Formats: sequence, structure tokens, C-alpha cells
Amino acid sequence: MALPNGPPIYPDLKGKIVLITGIGQQGDPEMWGNGAATARVFGQNGCKIFGCDLSIKSAQHTQQKLQSEGTEMEVMTADVTKTDQCKQLVDACMKRYGRIDILVNNVGMSQAGGPADMPEEVWDAQMDVNLKSVSGSAKRTSQRPLLGDRKQLETYAKVR
Ligand SMILES: NC(=O)c1ccc[n+]([C@@H]2O[C@H](COP(=O)([O-])OP(=O)(O)OC[C@H]3O[C@@H](n4cnc5c(N)ncnc54)[C@H](O)[C@@H]3O)[C@@H](O)[C@H]2O)c1
Repeated sequence: MALPNGPPIYPDLKGKIVLITGIGQQGDPEMWGNGAATARVFGQNGCKIFGCDLSIKSAQHTQQKLQSEGTEMEVMTADVTKTDQCKQLVDACMKRYGRIDILVNNVGMSQAGGPADMPEEVWDAQMDVNLKSVSGSAKRTSQRPLLGDRKQLETYAKVR
């Protein structure tokens, strides 16, 4: 594990195909969103990245930065609260790379308040972003013969 002057390097990650949602960033484009930063570290470990974002412009900005560092990467636009778009995302990654080793459900949302005082439409939007996005991509990936001899797909999700 190469530290502290470079990124952490895990030899087992080399060549893995990583699908990451929300690979852009809001606000200052020179900052790193969590999905973009995650993609960067996987790329530094020799992984190939397939990313999506609501904003193709923001996704392409991340793509340009990582490609300039030598990372192989593709991006597309997708809204991961829509199950059909999750399906299209998984299928596009499968078409490009032939498999998915690691699924990072990075997209999430955190509004102030709780179930007792939160307007129902805000609650529903949070459920869509935090849960439906995960179930949509997981549903599709589990339908696929993605794993070869392996018994499981590594998947990460973040709910704040
Ligand atoms: N920044 C922090 O300090 C922090 C800490 C802990 C957790 N989180 C959580 O991590 C997640 C990402 O945080 P961030 O700071 O990188 O946010 P960000 O807003 O900078 O980046 C999120 C990206 O996801 C994209 N996105 C949003 N909804 C989408 C959708 N439905 N489909 C596809 N793409 C979508 C946005 O366009 C944006 O490019 C959020 O859930 C956030 O609550 C953030």
C-alpha cells in the first residue's frame, strides 16, 4: 500500500471494472465530488471506470481530469432514481467492458428534518435518491451473468 506521498495502492484492484453513480460534482468544478474522488483513487489503482451523472458536462469534466492522469474511463448521462435508466447504465457498462466488478452507488441526498416533520414529497424524493437508486442498479446487475466464477459483486452505497 503506497502511502503517504501517493495514493493507497491495492494490487488486487488492478484491471477491475468499477461502475460509479454521480461521478460529477456540483459547485466549483475544480473541487472533487465524492464520486469523482472515488473514481480517481480507483483509477490510480489501475481500475477502468464507467460513470454516470445527471449532468453529462460535469461527468465529462471528471473524465477529462482522470484521462489526463492515465485512467481509462467512459461516462454517460443517467438519472439513477429511474429504474429504466439504471438498467441502461448497467447495460452500457456491460457493453463497453463486458463485466462489472465493483458498483459504487454514490448518489445520495440529505434534507433537514425527519419523518415526523418532513413534507411527504421531500421524504419521497429522498427515498428515491437514497434507496431506489441503489435497488435499481443492484436489481439489474444481479440479473446479469456478471460474476463468472465469483459468488458476489462488491457494492457500496452511501446514505448520509
Ligand atoms: N460532501 C460531503 O462532505 C459528504 C459527506 C458525507 C456524505 N456525503 C454524501 O455523498 C453524496 C455525494 O456528495 P458530494 O459532495 O460528492 O455531492 P455533489 O453534489 O458534489 O456530487 C453529486 C453528483 O451526483 C449527481 N447526481 C445527483 N442526483 C443524481 C441522480 N439522480 N442521478 C445521477 N446523478 C445524480 C450530481 O449531478 C453531482 O454531480 C451525497 O449523498 C452526500 O449527501 C457528502
